[in-house]
Amino acid sequence: MSPAIIRLDLYRLLLSVSEALDLVSRPLVNHHKQVSYLAFHLGRAAGLTGQELTELTMAAALHDIGGLSLAGRLDVLDFDLAAPERHTLPGYLLLKKFPPFAAIATLTRFHHLPWQEGAGAEYDGQPVPRAAHLLHLADRVAILLRPEEEILGQTAAILEKIEAHSGSKFMPAAVEALREVAGREAFWFDLVAPMVCETVISTQIGTGAEKTTDLHDLAQMFRQLIDFRSHFTATHSSGVAAVAPWIADKAGLSPADCECMKIAGLLHDIGKLVVPQEVLEKSAPLSREDFYSIRKHPYFSQRILSRVAGLEEISQWAAFHHERLDGTGYPFHLDDAHLSTGARLLAVADTFTALTETRPYRASMSGRGTIQIMEGMVRARKLDSSLYGLLHDHADEVDALRADAQQAALAEHRNFLADWAALGPG
Ligand SMILES: [Fe+2]
Ligand SMILES: [Fe+2]
Ligand SMILES: [Fe+2]
Repeated sequence: MSPAIIRLDLYRLLLSVSEALDLVSRPLVNHHKQVSYLAFHLGRAAGLTGQELTELTMAAALHDIGGLSLAGRLDVLDFDLAAPERHTLPGYLLLKKFPPFAAIATLTRFHHLPWQEGAGAEYDGQPVPRAAHLLHLADRVAILLRPEEEILGQTAAILEKIEAHSGSKFMPAAVEALREVAGREAFWFDLVAPMVCETVISTQIGTGAEKTTDLHDLAQMFRQLIDFRSHFTATHSSGVAAVAPWIADKAGLSPADCECMKIAGLLHDIGKLVVPQEVLEKSAPLSREDFYSIRKHPYFSQRILSRVAGLEEISQWAAFHHERLDGTGYPFHLDDAHLSTGARLLAVADTFTALTETRPYRASMSGRGTIQIMEGMVRARKLDSSLYGLLHDHADEVDALRADAQQAALAEHRNFLADWAALGPG
């Protein structure tokens, strides 16, 4: 079995990713968890099959994943939001790249489709799954919650508002399912107790979400989600994921470790999901607040990945890619006594790739300029000298490899934008 084929609790990973997405803004905190909890209960009350219920709960755990900008994410808080395609289409396009998520991608695409007295049962002549309409309702209930008030004081108004749109916005069977579950106070208490609601869903969908997964394909999907939020970063993780396993191979690591190093390269910046797109794209000098926001990303890379059994080592390598051997890196300030070969290697690959890229605040650097800067960093005990030496001795070869991988990622990014434009208004 390839080391990339592992059993993963996919649901935990998805919730962990969307928790990071929701941290971009306070009103969104716990949104995906709450929608997943609601969707699970609505789906069960509506009589979905076990498979449909698992797909619905998983789709709900990341339904707004295509809200790439902060403005796009905040849009969804409007009960009557005007242009849902701005986040449903990119979400759909990203998720469908991972074949096991085909059904989840479809639910994500249609999670704002109005019922329109039954016309919403189809789109362009194709049937729309009932689960998409259950997800729509779950999502709209969640955005009506007011965290600062007692939940029991809100339920009557929420039901009234939802019922007023039964048949027009919402599938009547979904509204019926809500009525069925809404009578129990405990249903609402669990909903607004975030840790509880995560536990409740995990135990209720049970092991259905633990799947044998091709980690490489999954990581490629997440890589696009991470990188495509800004054209400045659109190819970054592809570059790191080409350079890191090359150095690993030259350093004598096992083929399995080289493959894990590639996955770490694809995922190392997953914590950037907590950084607003507006900050990633800023061409003006970064403010202090922007800078603080960016400093969080390796911390969240660790937080997201370390909660998933099977990704422990990869999460450590990813988490430490901005650590420096002299202890001046961030955010853990580890030094050479505590940084593994994997962490040092990823730091070298990340630095090399980043220096060759254009940033909003600086132009890309030539190969020679990159080498000069990195040599300075090695002399200052920031980067590992022997791993850097491998790169230095074959700089042209590595750079060609990096450029090829980034060219391919650039083409993917263009296709993604073209597919998005072709599907509808964005
Ligand atoms: Fe949404
Ligand atoms: Fe949502
Ligand atoms: Fe980074």
